[in-house]
Amino acid sequence: MMRVIRVKDYQQISEKAFEIIKQTVTEKPDAVLGLATGSSPVGLYQLMIKDHRENGTSYREVRTFNLDEYVGLPKEHPESYYSFMHNNLFDHIDVKEENIHIPSSEGDLKEQCEAYNNALEEVQIDVQILGIGSNGHIGFNEPGTSFDSVTHIVDLNESTIKDNARFFDNDMSKVPAQAITMGISNVMAAKKIILVANGENKANAIQACVMGPVTEFVPASVLQEHPDVVIIIDEAAASSLYKEKR
Ligand code: GLP
Repeated sequence: MMRVIRVKDYQQISEKAFEIIKQTVTEKPDAVLGLATGSSPVGLYQLMIKDHRENGTSYREVRTFNLDEYVGLPKEHPESYYSFMHNNLFDHIDVKEENIHIPSSEGDLKEQCEAYNNALEEVQIDVQILGIGSNGHIGFNEPGTSFDSVTHIVDLNESTIKDNARFFDNDMSKVPAQAITMGISNVMAAKKIILVANGENKANAIQACVMGPVTEFVPASVLQEHPDVVIIIDEAAASSLYKEKR
């Protein structure tokens, strides 16, 4: 079942998402969290850090699994998702390094995909955080990816490279052309999924995700088939929903 929560602005998106995460780790201190990169979940991560500092909410027993990583950037690169997650969350809460899982693009890529997939098969993610690409991608599962996919290597679409160039001096040639990503079936295996999106740039993708046909051309549309999805969006990202009624 898909529940859409429309709020006023980015801050409220982050607060709503945070409520669910806080409840999850409070009820289940050894919860498994599926985490995402991108600008969308940063506000949520800031609230988790603030709450950890002020209220002592602990992540000591929590295990985390990230969705994806660029191919061709060393871990230490400031724009690797490894760096992103450490800078924006992990370095500021008490999660144990050995409980953090991020796909690695170092060494043999096929082996890395298999290893990540095996690790995912041993757990069930309690809550999976997702952003959405402006083309409807989730993780780095670009349009056309099979709903049955597991962790795999992808060639990034030009639109994704363009969207992400802002993190690479606005230079598309600096954006890695490939990534390693959890597959769609890995994402769908989570008990609960929270998708956060804000801004006009996401309005079409949200419309297709929530109201469009379930099709591999819009990876996020698969979420309509998941038993427990919460889509948290601001007014701008919701602006193409129910447009015909206005
Ligand atoms: C990237 C990530 C996705 C993310 C998407 C949206 O391509 N691989 O996981 O959801 O971008 O990013 P943002 O939240 O910055 O708009």
